[in-house]
Amino acid sequence: MSEPGLPTWYIYGAGGLGVETLEICLSAMAAGQAPQCRLSFIVDGSEQTEVLGYPVVGLEACKPGSPVTIAVGEPAARAKLAARATAAGLRLASAIAPSAVVSPSATVEEGVIIAPLCSVQARAFIGRNAAVNTMAIVGHDVRVEEDGVISSMVNLGGAVTVAARAYVGMGALIRENLSIGADSIVSMGSIVHREVPEAVIVMGDPARVIRRNEDKTVFRKTGD
Ligand SMILES: CC(C)(COP(=O)(O)OP(=O)(O)OC[C@H]1O[C@@H](n2cnc3c(N)ncnc32)[C@H](O)[C@@H]1OP(=O)(O)O)[C@@H](O)C(=O)NCCC(=O)NCCS
Repeated sequence: MSEPGLPTWYIYGAGGLGVETLEICLSAMAAGQAPQCRLSFIVDGSEQTEVLGYPVVGLEACKPGSPVTIAVGEPAARAKLAARATAAGLRLASAIAPSAVVSPSATVEEGVIIAPLCSVQARAFIGRNAAVNTMAIVGHDVRVEEDGVISSMVNLGGAVTVAARAYVGMGALIRENLSIGADSIVSMGSIVHREVPEAVIVMGDPARVIRRNEDKTVFRKTGD
């Protein structure tokens, strides 16, 4: 994977989701499901020079036109980094694990992460720069809009809509036909039986609004 003639596929972020995304890119290339590329992380203002043996560079070092996958788990940060990367001339590229099962009738837009063992079912729509983490189930006719993040082992029932920049925490279950509003957070393990409005945090079973999502962040402590 290190021949100098190959284009570079950049992974923006070198934290937990960054190294997971690296492995998705490697497995997709090994399976012949993504073009052969060198891989490199982008981290703004980092003093690190490598992670897992792969280079870490600043955005200014990237060749315009190169593919980039945004690899941070915070929806608002995904949106911000995608805007920064495309302004620098990079193009959003999707990283889809070969072990994920993606229906031929599903639509997957650019810059999406689909992690190992996910199931994306008939007529589902995964919008630009969204991320679907390990073993998530995305039911038929589901829409995950731009920059939305679906955590591991979430189950989205048929025709659920997860609006832009919404975050669904680990293992949550969303009943069919419901909508999760833009910028809202469904806390890990929640069971959602009712519509979730915009920019709130819901928690529990049945999931109830606990407060407004004022600062629109999930990972307050680590920023990962
Ligand atoms: C919604 C969320 C962001 C709220 O985080 P927070 O604002 O930092 O809230 P805290 O962790 O301080 O918890 C506040 C209270 O709710 C409780 N709580 C937190 N998450 C809960 C959950 N999923 N279900 C029930 N109670 C929960 C806490 O125990 C705490 O109770 P206390 O006040 O009695 O001590 C967080 O619960 C969450 O789901 N994060 C996403 C986790 C995830 O999916 N990570 C993926 C990692 S790859």
